[in-house]
Amino acid sequence: MSQDDLKLSVARAALKYVPEGKIIGVGTGSTANFFIDELAHIKDRITGAVASSQATGKRLASPGIRVYELNDVDDIPVYIDGADEITGSGAMIKGGGGALTREKIVASIAERFICIADESKLVDQLGHFPLPVEVLAIAHRPVAKKLADIGGVPRLRLKDGKPFVTDNGNLILDVSGLRIADPITLEEKINNVPGVVTVGLFARRGADICLLGSPEGVRTLKFDK
Ligand code: A5P
Repeated sequence: MSQDDLKLSVARAALKYVPEGKIIGVGTGSTANFFIDELAHIKDRITGAVASSQATGKRLASPGIRVYELNDVDDIPVYIDGADEITGSGAMIKGGGGALTREKIVASIAERFICIADESKLVDQLGHFPLPVEVLAIAHRPVAKKLADIGGVPRLRLKDGKPFVTDNGNLILDVSGLRIADPITLEEKINNVPGVVTVGLFARRGADICLLGSPEGVRTLKFDK
């Protein structure tokens, strides 16, 4: 079974968490893309979706799913998205696709966060995957220094040899070398660094459920809050 087969299996499994007649939150990345393609088959059952990125908005709109802006909704019953890493207690690193800020906002208004991931994403401790931090362009160097002070090795994310620019017009520092024993404390600490827009640690508001794809089938991990 390929990794894509596993992503497809969790995307299909997530459909049962989609409530009828509601606006749902939809994430960004390759696993979320599989989910969008599955959602297209049942698009008439939902009112629409809030997208966590411009790319997701386009992919949702293409089969005719109505896309709502964040400012159009107060809350949503469910947010379905992938992760770069997830622990056995539902804390995640996200932002490999650069959409972490909107992902965090959508997660914050969702009653339930359903993470969909293949089994390679389950880790004992976060931090092997470099932690994405979205920063204001005017402040990437002072923020990088603060992140180095706490033991990280920050690198400005590049695309085609130029700084990668997020949907919000900001830059991303990918921070390696962090051993994240206490994700909630680190999330708060990095969020408090002036110039940081969002850190890609989703621990204070982690996943409620993770659908984890393995060759043996889809496992459902439920996290107590
Ligand atoms: C996007 O910014 C990320 O948070 C994605 O959810 C994460 O990178 C997972 O992506 P894949 O499903 O492509 O691994």
